[in-house]
Amino acid sequence: MAKQIVMLGPPGAGKGTQAKVLSEKLGIPHVSSGDIFRENMREQTELGKNAALYINRGELVPDDVTIAMISERISRIDCDEGVVLDGFPRTATQAEALDEMLGDLNKGQVDAVPCVDVPNDVLIDRLTGRRTCRAEGHIFHIMFKPPQEAGKCDIDGSELYQREDDTVSTVSNRIDVYQKQTQPLIDYYQQQGVLLEINGDQPIEAVLDEIMTALSGV
Ligand code: AP5
Repeated sequence: MAKQIVMLGPPGAGKGTQAKVLSEKLGIPHVSSGDIFRENMREQTELGKNAALYINRGELVPDDVTIAMISERISRIDCDEGVVLDGFPRTATQAEALDEMLGDLNKGQVDAVPCVDVPNDVLIDRLTGRRTCRAEGHIFHIMFKPPQEAGKCDIDGSELYQREDDTVSTVSNRIDVYQKQTQPLIDYYQQQGVLLEINGDQPIEAVLDEIMTALSGV
């Protein structure tokens, strides 16, 4: 089964939700550019302070910063058997840089790109109702995936919070940015023959089944 996997899709499509389970099922790390930025923001590192200027407005962090961060992360030993990338690449420059990184690290090429498609009105409901766990980034939703106890993560008991970029105005900008800067990657990966179109507008388990079936054919 494919091991260099890139999750593609608009904000709120369910990339993170699916990537976490896929990573467990396939035994390879889940590398989320958004999670790494948020961890740095929490720890107030220079990278985090810089990234916050863009993230809180719903803009993309500059390519050079993002590429360096992901290049360092996927060169670590735990990615030797493969990786589930979530949120990277997001621009044509990042996609080309990823091909180069994988080549330089002798990791082959991107094997599969599940592209999770969801209508815009559904995305807004998903993002504004999302709650994220402080400790590990576990993902919940007040309606679609509520925790057993309000405000508390089922898995590690830590506090659930609402991301600063999940307000209605920032979400709309993130969707626009996706359409302009990231959607062109659908063609890029289609031309490489690795795109897997996934219907994300169905229950979480059904989306996972569709992704697993698509990956088993790669
Ligand atoms: P990032 O963290 O990557 O955010 P995103 O791409 O906007 O994606 P999200 O995390 O918002 O959504 P998701 O698709 O993972 O959905 P989720 O599974 O949580 O990036 C944040 C910011 O960082 C960017 O805006 C940018 O500024 C910066 N950044 C990151 N990467 C970058 C890069 N490469 N270059 C430059 N800048 C970068 O699900 C959403 C909600 O829906 C949850 O509540 C979930 O429970 C629920 N849900 C999921 N699936 C379903 C379902 N099937 N049915 C019902 N509910 C569902």
